[in-house]
Amino acid sequence: FADVGWDDTGRWDLATLPDLRHCEAFLPNAEEAMRYTRTSCPRAAARALTEHVPLAVVTLGAEGAYAVDRRTGETAEVPAIEVEALDPTGAGDVFVAGFVTGTLAGWPLADRLAFAGLTAALSVQEFGGSLSAPGWAEVGAWWRRVSEFDEQDPVALRRYSFLETLLPAQSRPWPLRRAVPTIGFRQA
Ligand SMILES: Nc1ncnc2c1ncn2[C@@H]1O[C@H](COP(=O)(O)OP(=O)(O)OP(=O)(O)O)[C@@H](O)[C@H]1O
Ligand SMILES: [Mg+2]
Repeated sequence: FADVGWDDTGRWDLATLPDLRHCEAFLPNAEEAMRYTRTSCPRAAARALTEHVPLAVVTLGAEGAYAVDRRTGETAEVPAIEVEALDPTGAGDVFVAGFVTGTLAGWPLADRLAFAGLTAALSVQEFGGSLSAPGWAEVGAWWRRVSEFDEQDPVALRRYSFLETLLPAQSRPWPLRRAVPTIGFRQA
């Protein structure tokens, strides 16, 4: 499972990513995907990337994510959940971790996108990168909260009903207290 960062050389040449051919999935963000494939639409970029990797997932920031599986011809798109974004650091990494988790568990493509997106969305609500990645307790607390209060669209919520059988039964209060990173801000 591979992701990339910004190409400071400006070349955006897939030949500089030779390890891609050993990968199951490639999960760049929309801007990166479009630059690497010389396309102007993230969905076209995902399709083009499947010439290089079996499964292309393009993340769309607050819009969610889109995926194409070359082996099955399947495509899936899942919108992001609405959160108050505090710090987007690590959203891409948390998304990959969530997607790997769902893949190892053998979930369908759309469930994997939903789970990866949910974990990433929960992480951008907190400061920090790895420290803001949610655990099962937080995913469970989110699910119980949105299931109990009907502030969210019930049709949209059904997308996450697969969580029902996975979550720990024990309830934790929301929001959870969590470790806070020590971040120093300096004035230039
Ligand atoms: N504001 C947001 N609200 C909800 N979900 C978000 C938000 N920002 C990011 N996400 C989730 O995180 C995923 C990855 O974000 P994004 O597409 O911005 O990746 P990225 O630019 O590669 O991030 P990074 O800078 O961490 O590498 C998105 O597909 C989405 O599921
Ligand atoms: Mg990224």
